[in-house]
Amino acid sequence: MKHIGSGRAVMGRVMGGMAEVRSEGPWIHADDGRRFLDFGGYGVFILGHRHPAVVEAVHRQIDTHPLASRVFLEPVAARAAQALAAHTPPGVDYVHFVNSGAEATEAALKLARAHGRTSVITTRRGFHGKTLGALSVTANATYQTPFQPLLPDVTQVDYDDPADLEQALAARRDRACVIVEPVQGEGGVRIPRRGYLRQVRALCSAYGALLVVDEIQTGMGRLGTWWGVDVEGVCPDVLLAGKGLSGGVVPIAAMAATAEAYGPFSRDPYLHTSTFGASPIACAAALATVRAMEAENTVARSAALGLRLLAAVREVCAPYEGGPVREVRGRGLLIGIEFAEEQAVGELLLELIARGVLVNHSLNSTRVLRLTPPAVVADAELDLFLTTLAEALRSTADRMSDRPTR
Ligand SMILES: Cc1ncc(COP(=O)(O)O)c(C=O)c1O
Repeated sequence: MKHIGSGRAVMGRVMGGMAEVRSEGPWIHADDGRRFLDFGGYGVFILGHRHPAVVEAVHRQIDTHPLASRVFLEPVAARAAQALAAHTPPGVDYVHFVNSGAEATEAALKLARAHGRTSVITTRRGFHGKTLGALSVTANATYQTPFQPLLPDVTQVDYDDPADLEQALAARRDRACVIVEPVQGEGGVRIPRRGYLRQVRALCSAYGALLVVDEIQTGMGRLGTWWGVDVEGVCPDVLLAGKGLSGGVVPIAAMAATAEAYGPFSRDPYLHTSTFGASPIACAAALATVRAMEAENTVARSAALGLRLLAAVREVCAPYEGGPVREVRGRGLLIGIEFAEEQAVGELLLELIARGVLVNHSLNSTRVLRLTPPAVVADAELDLFLTTLAEALRSTADRMSDRPTR
């Protein structure tokens, strides 16, 4: 209340007042002895909390060399880049590590400018972070308005609308950068029609635009593929990763790019730097995360589990469709429940917390509740989630229907 902010303190109280103190796998433990099944985590915990292999690698790195001088060569960053590049789309071979998703967006926007792509096209409801540059392409007036003026020359087009994009590109031939998510996460789990990403790629090539695909939320197996673009075999010029890359242990994000796109950063290693960027400790986490995902077939697990979960959530929500529930949609382990009323999201979220389950709202779509569970949940945990969701939904729907309509 006194040192972090009264708003944060009040939010914590609304959520139940407990403090989180420990975690493992899909579980978070609170200081009052309760534990919560984490189907939220804003998409970070694809490997769950504190994956043992990642924790071990990070411990080892702490005991040897957690932060580098930044003068000599440092092998852990190179190994992590190599491991990640083994899974990025063909040609997307160069990796610039940063500390957060928003920083990955910043790096991409600066790289685009270094190529003369100064006019940025983003999508309505798109989310790319909240630092000043990233915020300029995050289509949310609530977050943008207090910080105007933002970056100049940013245009919003409709998501999943190639014609709208083409119109914007035609007016900016050879000077545009397009930033897009394969599925809009914070935008409320919006899944574009099949072929959209391929059309975006073709349009960017035709009009000489740099294509940045933001996979910070959708990548690292979240959609049941390594990257959302894999479904359509699309190769972006720049791909952003974050969240799951941390292994749920140390914050890290990355901007990966083709040799051509990466050129300016390759030629001058001081052009865009940050003291803690590509630290050995964070890169050790990223490397161990990629290795753990390979060893445990996390991507295939995410796909299989996602199909089961989506079908089961649809079944649980079916009695409420046409009433409080508008639609259930998802791909892999990114699932959204869209409600008719915004209020239902908050009420259901609190009802779930009271019953020991954590989920998330969506920052750019207030009527959508978002599920981003880890790929490591066991059958019993999946069942527990579904039973709890059914109970919480019933209780929320009952409460809301008792209320006089406004
Ligand atoms: C698609 C996407 N891009 C960027 C970001 C920003 O990442 P961070 O919160 O780590 O800055 C997010 C975070 O939710 C995201 O979902």
